[in-house]
Amino acid sequence: MFEIIKKETLAPNIYLMDINAPRVAKSCYPGQFVIVKMDEKGERIPLTICDYDREAGTVTIVFQALGSSTRRMAEYEAGESFRDFTGPLGCKSELVDETPEELKKKKILFVAGGVGTAPVYPQVKWMKEHGVDVDCIIGARNKELIILEDEMKQVAGNVYVTTDDGSYGFQGNVNDCIKDLVHNQGKHYDLVIAIGPVIMMKFVSILTKELGIRTIVSMNPIMVDGTGMCGACRLTVGNQVKFACVDGPEFDGHLVDFDESMKRQQMYKTVEGRTVLREREGVTHKSGGCGCSDD
Ligand code: NAD
Ligand code: FES
Repeated sequence: MFEIIKKETLAPNIYLMDINAPRVAKSCYPGQFVIVKMDEKGERIPLTICDYDREAGTVTIVFQALGSSTRRMAEYEAGESFRDFTGPLGCKSELVDETPEELKKKKILFVAGGVGTAPVYPQVKWMKEHGVDVDCIIGARNKELIILEDEMKQVAGNVYVTTDDGSYGFQGNVNDCIKDLVHNQGKHYDLVIAIGPVIMMKFVSILTKELGIRTIVSMNPIMVDGTGMCGACRLTVGNQVKFACVDGPEFDGHLVDFDESMKRQQMYKTVEGRTVLREREGVTHKSGGCGCSDD
């Protein structure tokens, strides 16, 4: 069992929990994810790691209570426990493998959209711990939905907050903010890491392609079981079939076919859609898990 050590409400329907999971805390890296199963019958919920404390043995997760499982998860309180907390899963962020000297040569901009701010945080913290100053945009629909601003300010060189409705910080979406930094404030970037809703990552990638800035995105939102067996997170990157939970979650944003991913996500929601996808994709429908779970 995995005890909830701390629970906080960050914004309406957005929760943070510190979970006692020493083995995961010891071996996880920024970019990876865990699968939470609340109890025997609970759904498997893949969530990107927001922070970890190797000494205390805790892993921090942030989630939005949207579906029935995450709404039920939000009812858990500190002192209660989850049945399973599996991880770390997926590949670590590519930045983790670069030396501080290599990282310091690049001007890096992190773009965090809404709840996507949570998986951006450990990457920016990693940079700070390795002496690398980065810029970070945090975008949300309004002031109430901005999360982890103070935490991010402690680890990023510059934090730019933007809200769609202008209730706080710059007015506009994250792309408006990128354009302002590049065109009006003369900023130059070599690399963008954009994490947020799929539609945001699509439009950030279109913009950065025009600006000639290499871009990494995290396709965590299209995952369902997180094990390579359900086929939900199949996507095309360049001309290759990939699976977000096994090959990612991070990919080159200029190569991801976002439109196909978004269409596929809609189809995957229904039994008929899943049947069509299985027939159409044949052996490439799943990534080669055990093959025993079809629906
Ligand atoms: P949201 O819809 O409120 O969007 C957050 C911000 O993203 C907006 O304020 C805006 O600045 C930007 N954005 C959205 N659409 C855009 C567009 N078309 N063009 C440019 N910018 C745009 O997000 P939310 O409700 O806080 O986030 C929920 C989504 O985040 C879910 O879909 C969830 O799956 C996803 N998420 C992704 C990750 C990840 O690893 N990629 C992690 C956690 C959550
Ligand atoms: Fe099921 Fe990746 S989430 S195959």
